[in-house]
Amino acid sequence: MGIPTMSLVFILLAVILLAVMLQQMIQGSQEPACHMNDLTALKGFAKCLEPDIGGWNWSSSNCCSFTGITCDNSSDIYGRLVGLELGNKRLTGTICESLVGLEQLRILNLSLNSLHGKIPANLFHFRNLEVLDLSNNYLVGPLPSAIHLPSIKYLDLSKNYFSSFISMRFCTSSSHIQYLDLAHNFFGEGLIYLENCTSLQYVFLNGNGLSGTFPENLFRLQHLRVLHLQQNQFSGPLSYGIGNLSNLVELDISLNDFSGSLPDVFGRLRKLESFSASSNRLTGLLPASLVNSASRLRIDLHNNSLDGPIRIKCSAMAQVTSLDLASNNFQGPVPASLSSCQSLRALNLARTKLGGVVPFKFRNLHALEILTLGNTSINNISTALEILQHCKNLTILDLGLNFYLEEMPSNVNLQFTSLTALIIPFCHLRGSLPIWLSSSKMLQLLDLSWNSLGGSLPSWIGKFEYLFYLDLSNNSFSGEIPESLTGLENLVHKTALLKESCEHISLVKRKEQGRLRLVYDNICTFPPTIDLSHNKFTGPIWPSFGNLKNLHVLNLEENNLSGSIPDSISGMTSLEVLDLSCNNLSGEIPYSLVHLSFLSVFNVSYNRLYGDTPSGGQFMTFPDSSFDGNQALCPRLVAPCQRKQIPPVVFPGKKMKIMDWNFGIGAAIGFLLTVFFCFKSGWVIPKGRVCRC
Ligand SMILES: *[C@@H]1O[C@H](CO)[C@@H](O)[C@H](O)[C@H]1NC(C)=O
Ligand SMILES: *[C@@H]1O[C@H](CO)[C@@H](O)[C@H](O)[C@H]1NC(C)=O
Ligand SMILES: *[C@@H]1O[C@H](CO)[C@@H](O)[C@H](O)[C@H]1NC(C)=O
Ligand SMILES: *[C@@H]1O[C@H](CO)[C@@H](O)[C@H](O)[C@H]1NC(C)=O
Ligand SMILES: *[C@@H]1O[C@H](CO)[C@@H](O)[C@H](O)[C@H]1NC(C)=O
Ligand SMILES: *[C@@H]1O[C@H](CO)[C@@H](O)[C@H](O)[C@H]1NC(C)=O
Ligand SMILES: *[C@@H]1O[C@H](CO)[C@@H](O)[C@H](O)[C@H]1NC(C)=O
Ligand SMILES: *[C@@H]1O[C@H](CO)[C@@H](O)[C@H](O)[C@H]1NC(C)=O
Ligand SMILES: *[C@@H]1O[C@H](CO)[C@@H](O)[C@H](O)[C@H]1NC(C)=O
Ligand SMILES: *[C@@H]1O[C@H](CO)[C@@H](O)[C@H](O)[C@H]1NC(C)=O
Ligand SMILES: *[C@@H]1O[C@H](CO)[C@@H](O)[C@H](O)[C@H]1NC(C)=O
Ligand SMILES: *[C@@H]1O[C@H](CO)[C@@H](O)[C@H](O)[C@H]1NC(C)=O
Repeated sequence: MGIPTMSLVFILLAVILLAVMLQQMIQGSQEPACHMNDLTALKGFAKCLEPDIGGWNWSSSNCCSFTGITCDNSSDIYGRLVGLELGNKRLTGTICESLVGLEQLRILNLSLNSLHGKIPANLFHFRNLEVLDLSNNYLVGPLPSAIHLPSIKYLDLSKNYFSSFISMRFCTSSSHIQYLDLAHNFFGEGLIYLENCTSLQYVFLNGNGLSGTFPENLFRLQHLRVLHLQQNQFSGPLSYGIGNLSNLVELDISLNDFSGSLPDVFGRLRKLESFSASSNRLTGLLPASLVNSASRLRIDLHNNSLDGPIRIKCSAMAQVTSLDLASNNFQGPVPASLSSCQSLRALNLARTKLGGVVPFKFRNLHALEILTLGNTSINNISTALEILQHCKNLTILDLGLNFYLEEMPSNVNLQFTSLTALIIPFCHLRGSLPIWLSSSKMLQLLDLSWNSLGGSLPSWIGKFEYLFYLDLSNNSFSGEIPESLTGLENLVHKTALLKESCEHISLVKRKEQGRLRLVYDNICTFPPTIDLSHNKFTGPIWPSFGNLKNLHVLNLEENNLSGSIPDSISGMTSLEVLDLSCNNLSGEIPYSLVHLSFLSVFNVSYNRLYGDTPSGGQFMTFPDSSFDGNQALCPRLVAPCQRKQIPPVVFPGKKMKIMDWNFGIGAAIGFLLTVFFCFKSGWVIPKGRVCRC
């Protein structure tokens, strides 16, 4: 092509462009008027919805100006409705058949509403529809069997109650689809003939109860970038065919029943950044190709039965930020080589069989924010803390169930300035609350329960600005509870939580009969708690506890606290659990506690309380056992209390049954029982403290 021809073509193009722009200017001067067919369709559609759609004004017949509506303003279908976007508009009701009248629709978005019922059979017949988003509603039923959406690119039906997808022919008619989200429905069996949807890049099938082996027909989808199959019931071994999905960036097959070993195909998945296969039944070693790949950012394989040593090649995996290998059978020492993964922000090796000491080189993990090594077999807590204090970004440290019978280091030079959560329970650690902790100004959560720490609590424990969860239960702390504890800023005023620490961590908690139980949660969902139970604290319950308006759980069970229960503790208006049992408290139960309207667990048993038991409010719901073993506590419902007189014959609660019997026998036995229980509970003859806790 010569230069003159080129410029001719150029001029021609310019003229055409000018013409188009001119036409647009003329048409653009007024809004397109709404086509009659579209107006009728919209009216029918709106009739089936509950509230009026804000911004739809039927007196103005130009529906193109309604909220959420786009009309074509340039092409040969000028004025036709092409977009209906009513996401998150609090719509309730059903989707009416008349919607199908919007023949030229390209975008339909009704997501994040409360639409229910089946969808009309013809809804899947829009010739030009490119985007269909019905996610997050209450829609039900099987999808229509005939689907004709030849232009569809983006289909999101997630989070509904749909069952049974999709005809064999779906991919023949909708072959250009790129994004398919069917997650969290009941599509169940009958998967899913997707092999001819070769343009697919995003496929979400998670949370559907799908079963069978890994769906091999997906291996033909060469453009697949994101594949989510988690939370189904897939089983059997993982196939080498996965290696064919060479464009995958994200693969999640967690929470299934896959077994066997991981196939060594990750060398072919050069773009894979995130791989999760947690909570399956995988066995064997980590494949060499998985731990040697430059693209990898996140690997989550927790809760499987993988074994062998951990041989992550950090020189190759320089970018890895998160590595979760917890709850597996890995053995050997904690691998020092991990310290070369300079980008590592989260490392979870908890509940493995790794042992030894924390490697010296871990001090180089400068990006590390979360480290969980709980329930491994590591030892030497002094060494561990000496090393880890060099990880300046460390915010969450979980070392529980290790270091059996060691001494808590008290070295004043230790410094953990970024720490928000320190979790070292169940270690039988000796010593006292370490002074170095006072420099961790960001601390929100401290769990040192089930150790053998002793001495008195220092008053700086009340100076943490963000602390809201303090568990020192089952140690040997003694002396008074420092009054400063009742000034904890975050429990008095609810200072905002530091957002970035809403992280998943695992806390081990003691449950009934001393059995241990893992609690998976994230820090921000923990209830504000002070648990000092099972220690040797003496002295009073400070009246200023009433200042802790944001406290939900106060457990002081089994100490040696004395004095009376201050009236002011009813100031803890958020309180849900209050356990003061097995102490040496005297006086009466303050009546004001009936105003604690969230209180659902209350226990003052085994103290030396007397007087009336408050009735009313939540107190009507507490079992008798909450009040057992006190000196002279009158039963609820019986007022006024007639101390020093023969106790009344009527028994509250469960023992009321006695009254159903023949009256004569009933009254006689009732009387005897009454006398018996009064003796037993120390009402008539006070007796020593027999603690059942
Ligand atoms: C025409 O449609 C386009 C895209 O839909 C939009 O950006 C533009 O503002 C519209 N013009 C008028 C005059 O409505
Ligand atoms: C509805 O449209 C009519 C006619 O265009 C107009 O007079 C009226 O004010 C509008 N009502 C509302 C609530 O916008
Ligand atoms: C649909 O609307 C919701 C709510 O406005 C929005 O979050 C979502 O991204 C939209 N879907 C599409 C495909 O644009
Ligand atoms: C996919 O396409 C092939 C070839 O066109 C055809 O033989 C096969 O039946 C199709 N599969 C499905 C599930 O439609
Ligand atoms: C993987 O791809 C190869 C060719 O690239 C092909 O021969 C093989 O059948 C594919 N495997 C599967 C399971 O689709
Ligand atoms: C571990 O995985 C199994 C399935 O293999 C699952 O049933 C169990 O709930 C998982 N446990 C945790 C704590 O995630
Ligand atoms: C440590 O955290 C700070 C603040 O979040 C961040 O700017 C810095 O890059 C982190 N250090 C490393 C080595 O990642
Ligand atoms: C600690 O690990 C052992 C085996 O490694 C396991 O049996 C035990 O249940 C774990 N304990 C907790 C509380 O996770
Ligand atoms: C921990 O390691 C240090 C340094 O190697 C050593 O001096 C100390 O005795 C060890 N402590 C325990 C309890 O093993
Ligand atoms: C306290 O911890 C010890 C082990 O340190 C345990 O044997 C005991 O049962 C625990 N007591 C209570 C009341 O939980
Ligand atoms: C409880 O504390 C009192 C002092 O307040 C003391 O006399 C008593 O011995 C303590 N009891 C126990 C069991 O420690
Ligand atoms: C209860 O406290 C009194 C002093 O107030 C003390 O004499 C008594 O020994 C304490 N009882 C127990 C069981 O500790």
